Amino acid sequence: MTKDSFLVLGIGGTTRSNSSTELALRACLAAVRGFGVKTELCSGADLELPLYSPEDPGRSPSAQRLVELVRRCDGLIIASPGYHGSISGLVKNALDYTEDLRSDARIYFDGLPVGCIACAHGWQAASGTLTALRSVVHSLRGWPTPLGVAINTAETRFDGDGACTNAATAEHLKIMAAQVVDFVTTRRSGSSQTMASSVSAARTMAGRA
Ligand SMILES: Cc1cc2nc3c(=O)[nH]c(=O)nc-3n(C[C@H](O)[C@H](O)[C@H](O)COP(=O)(O)O)c2cc1C
Repeated sequence: MTKDSFLVLGIGGTTRSNSSTELALRACLAAVRGFGVKTELCSGADLELPLYSPEDPGRSPSAQRLVELVRRCDGLIIASPGYHGSISGLVKNALDYTEDLRSDARIYFDGLPVGCIACAHGWQAASGTLTALRSVVHSLRGWPTPLGVAINTAETRFDGDGACTNAATAEHLKIMAAQVVDFVTTRRSGSSQTMASSVSAARTMAGRA
């Protein structure tokens, strides 16, 4: 498979379009495209979804698009602002919609690399939010990349074109994009099929135990 047949989905931002969180996410997705991989974005108004209700199978068009894109994607970048020390309700609600994938052959984020970005007005909330986001990704069976990106917006800004004022942050977003792309391309190669069947075999054995 060629790299341009892969899809990396970006989820995140705030209700405000062009928030720092959305611009950081867009910058990371631009880096993914720079490595030859396609991207899609669910941000801003795309995330203004009804509260996730497991008992109600009705889904808004935006919710259907989000779930379908998660179902189709080969990797993810997720970006949340730090609200009161953790991920925002908007982003958490969007992630709760992955519950609609609970009966899929590929459940939740199983086997997917996930790059995480947290933006807050200080290092404490930025770091705490990044840890919380990576923990949610783990619980959804995703593989957080070795590098996550915490951004302190008191020090770092994105201009109208999405360029970052902090060279180290810009570099970190590119490195994380590269880690997602590397994981996708490695996993889709022959060796990854060995890995996938090992996981499947391990599950079968666990089921029998
Ligand atoms: C409801 C709310 C709660 C927030 N809580 C915190 C917080 O606990 N710590 C912090 O550093 N910043 C906090 N912030 C500031 C955001 O993290 C900050 O705006 C962040 O840089 C996201 O920027 P953005 O809205 O441009 O994406 C809060 C903002 C809002 C609106």
